[in-house]
Amino acid sequence: MPIPALSIIARPEDATAELIVHGVHPGEEPTAEGFDPELLRGIGATGEREQVVRAVVDGRRVAFVGLGDDTGSVRLRQIAGAAVRALRDVPTLALALPVRTTDDVLAVLEGAALGAYRFDGLKREPKPGVVEIAVVAGEAEVTETVVAMAKAASTAVWLTRDLANTPPNLLSPVHFADRVAAEAQQAGLSVVVRDEERLRREGFGGIVGVGQGSSRPPRLVTVEHAPDNATRHVVLVGKGITFDSGGLSLKPAGSMQHMKYDMTGAATVYAVTAAAAALQLPIRVTAHLALAENMVSSTSTRPDDVIVIRGGTSVEVTNTDAEGRLVMADALVLASEAQPDAIIDVATLTGAQQVALGDRVSGVMGNDEAFVDALVRASREVGELVWPMPIPEEMRSMLDSEVADLQNAKVGNRSGGMLLAAAFLNEFVGERDGSPIPWAHIDIAGPSMNTGKPFGHTPSGATGVVVRGVLRMISKMSRSAE
Ligand code: BES
Ligand code: ZN
Ligand code: ZN
Repeated sequence: MPIPALSIIARPEDATAELIVHGVHPGEEPTAEGFDPELLRGIGATGEREQVVRAVVDGRRVAFVGLGDDTGSVRLRQIAGAAVRALRDVPTLALALPVRTTDDVLAVLEGAALGAYRFDGLKREPKPGVVEIAVVAGEAEVTETVVAMAKAASTAVWLTRDLANTPPNLLSPVHFADRVAAEAQQAGLSVVVRDEERLRREGFGGIVGVGQGSSRPPRLVTVEHAPDNATRHVVLVGKGITFDSGGLSLKPAGSMQHMKYDMTGAATVYAVTAAAAALQLPIRVTAHLALAENMVSSTSTRPDDVIVIRGGTSVEVTNTDAEGRLVMADALVLASEAQPDAIIDVATLTGAQQVALGDRVSGVMGNDEAFVDALVRASREVGELVWPMPIPEEMRSMLDSEVADLQNAKVGNRSGGMLLAAAFLNEFVGERDGSPIPWAHIDIAGPSMNTGKPFGHTPSGATGVVVRGVLRMISKMSRSAE
């Protein structure tokens, strides 16, 4: 299902939608512009943030959504999302919320489109969804670019959610690669798919090693948006484990559930690249999707095996469940070979991310403080929660191996697992003109999925976090190069 058609209208009176959503300010006497406070009291609309109450006023269907005390753009995005999520049975909606700035309008458009998301492609009788959303812009200045941005960003989040929600029996590395290849070509992106034989021939020992235990072979998919007017080049790298059983270092049953989401990084970087192309951003964007299924069989990589990553670094596999860093290592080496201006990787890399930052805040690490900070800022601007974390120098020695250049995990270690994984990845980021290529690594293990109830514009299941933040970052990079 595509995202709803998005449009801007000047006043609520211009709406042709079946139902108009109005914002309610809380207080002793809750207020909504154009409505009698008595009415609000009568139907119990208190203005409490994200509360949604339906009514019929003068023969028109309306709904009231509580605004709470903060109506900044970050909050408005969540409020619009919660409203549309509660009203997903209504095909055409209009939103009249207190928007003051262009950013506010963008937020309401995005929040509304994100809240309309539903994944029921596998149900016998899919429910109809929202097909049209009009946002009342009032006095706020709005250009077509704002609508295009909201559309591109929301489409990218929907695509990421759809891919990540797809059950793993239906999304093997080959399915994933085929789908990306077909869609990307249609969108005018170039695509290269490396199959298992080519991966082996070209030295991608991490991806081959992780994928070799599965009857469903690995792939490395590269998609690229390379406009003629590009002055900068960013390479994105995504972890694409279509199912992570842990391999021979098998996960306990409770931890194995939800491991279909372990390919969310790959879905994210693909969706962001497609959005960059849709927006015709004047920057070259390359995405590498490292796809493999981490399974158990007599051909699986064993703990104690030594594999060789592209470029020649040997790695002793001490834990086959630390597979993400192995496939990412190969892809980071490939990313570095292009000598780009920057590399951003996205991965559901460690359970330790959840321990450190919880279920809603992603960790960002890297080799360049200014670059990491810029990514954190860009993310905050669009209401994405990411937090900078260090890669402590002394942790590198925890990766020393007796038999190889590195080991992929320190057995028994319980300290700073997210940071240690980042330290491992850091070893595979190359140099350009004698200094490290600016690189940021985003660990989205927890935030990639919502195993609880929906909130704001976030549904249960795949969330599509960091898609909009990374897109904003790339968009800013394309502008700063002008
Ligand atoms: N895919 C997992 C990380 C993960 C955990 C994602 C929970 C989402 C939710 C990753 O491959 C993994 O298993 N990491 C291990 C590393 C350890 C063996 C060093 C972990 O975090 O336990
Ligand atoms: Zn794992
Ligand atoms: Zn994994």
